[in-house]
Amino acid sequence: MQKVLLKDLSEFAGNVLATVWMGGPQHKATIIALRGDLGAGKTTFVQALCKRLGITATVQSPTYVLMKSYPLEGPTTTFGAPRRFNRVVHIDAYRLEKPQEFSALKPEQFLQDPSALVLVEWPEKLGTLLPKPTLTVVFSAEAAGEGERYIEVI
Ligand SMILES: Nc1ncnc2c1ncn2[C@@H]1O[C@H](COP(=O)(O)OP(=O)(O)OP(=O)(O)O)[C@@H](O)[C@H]1O
Ligand SMILES: [Mg+2]
Repeated sequence: MQKVLLKDLSEFAGNVLATVWMGGPQHKATIIALRGDLGAGKTTFVQALCKRLGITATVQSPTYVLMKSYPLEGPTTTFGAPRRFNRVVHIDAYRLEKPQEFSALKPEQFLQDPSALVLVEWPEKLGTLLPKPTLTVVFSAEAAGEGERYIEVI
């Protein structure tokens, strides 16, 4: 676990993206599972990561809508690297009650898409509906001081 201050979250998100990039192109979507208790910092991390990818839209928690999708445009990232992803799909499964609610989103359309980066809060609520994540990031506010979090990439 690494202590990450809010001001360093953007750099941390950049490192996570670099890890994903180093993994090379995938045949299916790249899935990042975000684990941690309520208020541990999952959505804040998604916001930092989206900003890093050049998304200018306001990224809000999709708690009630379950999923939000943000297009990524142009051939390169804001950092000049070739663009690997054409969209970020942000899922918050916290309020999911039945698997059918997830199936109704036609998840195969983005889970099979190699140019989709799928970020999932509360992945444990999806059980076997979610394929094995490419990466898991674990967040903890426990034992963290004000304005900091412990974060681990698995
Ligand atoms: N790295 C960080 N350092 C300090 N504070 C943070 C950090 N990340 C998030 N926070 C703060 O923690 C609060 C809750 O964060 P956030 O909404 O991202 O949690 P969450 O894990 O998405 O919760 P939920 O499970 O309810 O969706 C926010 O006020 C945010 O500013
Ligand atoms: Mg959240």
